[in-house]
Amino acid sequence: MGTKNTYHQAPDSIAAPPPGCPVHGTWSPLDEDYLADPYPIANRLRDQHPVFYAEELGHVVVTRMSDIESVFMNPDVFASTNVQDPLFPLADGATGILGAPDFDPVAVMSNRSEPDHARIRAYTRLGFSNRRLRTLEDYMRERATALLDQMVSNGSPAEYVGALAFPLPAEIVFRFIGFPPEDDVMIKSWCGNRKAFSWGQPTADEQTQIAQGMLDYWRYCREFVASRRDERADDFTSELLNAHDADPDPANGTGISYREVESVVYGISFAGHDPVTALLCNTLRCLLPRRDQWNALCADPSLAAAAVEETLRFESSQISWRRVTTRQTTLGGIDLPAATKVFLNFASANHQDDVFEDPEVFDIRRKTASRHISFGKGIHFCLGAGLARMEARIALELLSARLPSLHLAPDQIYEFFPNITFRGPDALHLMWDDEAAAP
Ligand code: HEM
Repeated sequence: MGTKNTYHQAPDSIAAPPPGCPVHGTWSPLDEDYLADPYPIANRLRDQHPVFYAEELGHVVVTRMSDIESVFMNPDVFASTNVQDPLFPLADGATGILGAPDFDPVAVMSNRSEPDHARIRAYTRLGFSNRRLRTLEDYMRERATALLDQMVSNGSPAEYVGALAFPLPAEIVFRFIGFPPEDDVMIKSWCGNRKAFSWGQPTADEQTQIAQGMLDYWRYCREFVASRRDERADDFTSELLNAHDADPDPANGTGISYREVESVVYGISFAGHDPVTALLCNTLRCLLPRRDQWNALCADPSLAAAAVEETLRFESSQISWRRVTTRQTTLGGIDLPAATKVFLNFASANHQDDVFEDPEVFDIRRKTASRHISFGKGIHFCLGAGLARMEARIALELLSARLPSLHLAPDQIYEFFPNITFRGPDALHLMWDDEAAAP
């Protein structure tokens, strides 16, 4: 895990605050009250100090939309090379496992700098074109319908994460990549803990277990890509391999290497399903308690896309991202030396009252919802935004048509997996009137 282009690089220590930067000595995005409801705290932090150093995290926190956008739009100064890195130093057990000579994914997309990032993105973008997404829509609807049928036939109440929100995005991205369905359960178990590794604070034992899963998963990806190298199919991996055959050498400034193809497959499978699972749950957590909004959607399913967009603003499945400075710079009036780690707080920016009118109101008819920052901005703008939006829209269209009486089971307490970035409940219990579910 040593060189600049390695996929995950753990820090050796926690950085000191930049001189002159306001310091917060106690707040952490891993605090229980922040995990339970980040918004009131994020708003308060933003109003106190738009840019401050969080001692618990070792990062400078950026809270205002305009500052976050200017970070995203200046990738030469604010590099994305740290976005997949563990937050804290790793224990020996995990370091030993990930030190295996064949654990060598390279940074390819979210964590790769220019000009290589643009070179690789040119290939991956093709797979996510609107034309390609449209060809996936029927399959998505078919799988979502089958999962929903199963949930309904099992009867009310249902646990939505297990019934639909987890399997649907995972199956879609795995079929998109080309992984065979019989491997789904195994792949999901390997990807599940990545959230803790790069964005949480796992114990030494947990780190060892996660590291083993990551190593197994990397080996699986390599074997899978090798199988497609020998025999192509109609999937994203085969498209990347065709591109590699046509132009295999990155040194000429345009090609994509075989290791880069393997690493794209490794990265996209996690990026492509975990935040979508959370988004599917968050749409319902926002809509179902507000019956006027849910009923409006049931009466007019064309509101589904707008409901997804407002959820991405109001209760996003990704509430932060990271950057690191490549040289001395100034942000929000604060001097930042080179190598400063920066935590971009989407939660505070998406609820900023001089960007969104009445930001604490969830309103699916809000005209400006898409100004949210939940998919990032600039050269690294989320590659899967269209796919995520489509999955969430289809799930809402189907649910609102089939189960207008759907509501949240009363008195449930949501658990949020402790991490600084991804936000969605571990479980979501739903209920509906049986007669409403009749086909
Ligand atoms: C609600 C779901 C999702 C959210 C909230 C989300 C959010 C994000 C964010 C914030 C970034 C970083 C943007 C930046 O640095 O400017 C990103 C990058 C990325 N996302 Fe997503 N994402 C979601 C779903 C997906 C899906 C479904 C896929 C793929 C199947 C995907 C693939 C990627 C990739 C490959 C990148 C890196 C792009 C690059 O560096 O060029 N994401 N996403």
